[in-house]
Amino acid sequence: MATTITITGAGGQIGYALLFRIAAGDLLGADEKVRLRLLEIPQGLAAAEGAALELQDGAFSLLDDVEVTDDAATGFDGCNLALLVGARPRGPGMERGDLLAANAGIFGPQGSAIAAAAAADVRVTVVGNPANTNALIAAASADGVPAERFTALTRLDENRARAQLALALDAPVSSIRRVPIWGNHSATQFPDVSHATVDGRPVPTWLEQEFIPRVARRGAEIIEVRGSSSVASAANATIEHTRDWVRGTDDWTSAGVVSHGEYGVPEGLVSSFPVRSVDGEWQIVEGLELSDRARAKVDASVAELVDERETVRALGVL
Ligand code: NAD
Ligand code: LMR
Repeated sequence: MATTITITGAGGQIGYALLFRIAAGDLLGADEKVRLRLLEIPQGLAAAEGAALELQDGAFSLLDDVEVTDDAATGFDGCNLALLVGARPRGPGMERGDLLAANAGIFGPQGSAIAAAAAADVRVTVVGNPANTNALIAAASADGVPAERFTALTRLDENRARAQLALALDAPVSSIRRVPIWGNHSATQFPDVSHATVDGRPVPTWLEQEFIPRVARRGAEIIEVRGSSSVASAANATIEHTRDWVRGTDDWTSAGVVSHGEYGVPEGLVSSFPVRSVDGEWQIVEGLELSDRARAKVDASVAELVDERETVRALGVL
């Protein structure tokens, strides 16, 4: 049996960085065959078809089948994993929220198509920005699919946070653990060092002043330096998020998941939390102490998510 994986926006930058790693076994391991569905809009079909030809030329032993389509019903047919990447990226000077109007219209129809066509165990990772609210829109449109199956990528933020701490502390990145991202995948996000450890010891909190804005603005820094948004690091984080969801974690990580009111986050919002993956499900790590300062930062990012939900409601998307 092969796992069917649908990648939307497969003809784009992140799509190109994802496909070959998935075919090589980085997502599901060296024993799991994969069937890829590359879903594009008509303008992106040629690029996706070119990628499909190159996938053939890779002669990947795990790759059972590749199909390229611009029809959502075909693209999501029987899919077990859906990586929703296809969306417009932001350019220099834009915030991710500026993409709300442009991208909101994509995720409702895709949520409906997933509900109609995907396998019963479908899990969805939303990468296209603004990822949290797009995941909310897709979940709201997917009648019959539990909202918990729709998640937003904030693993890239966590990876950035761990890497920046490792640099600041001159420590290997593997020694840095428990750096959850709270809230929105946006400049208001709260990368939280208060529970972080380096080789099991607490991380000095003086780091916070520089660290929080550095991580929160990293997406913009990448755009300034390379002229377009992050690609390979985003694909890497997408693989790590989805792999951990399927295969489990041995410690905390971060993911945008639907709130049931945990930590006072309004029910139904897709917010980043510290999470564990157990038996194929994300579980929010509960009972953590938040200082007044941390609480204010979480609240500010969650307020932005509430605003985004209001905006898409006003656009008639929700
Ligand atoms: P890109 O422009 O290179 O590729 C996007 C692709 O999506 C294009 O090929 C386009 O044709 C396709 N597309 C557009 N609408 C579609 C639809 N309705 N169905 C299927 N395909 C569609 O962009 P990219 O660099 O690959 O970035 C994709 C998205 O990922 C952007 O929204 C970007 O902001 C976001 N992103 C998120 C994170 C994160 O951490 N969450 C990180 C990096 C980028
Ligand atoms: C990122 O964090 O790199 C992406 O969300 C792209 C962006 O617009 O910042």
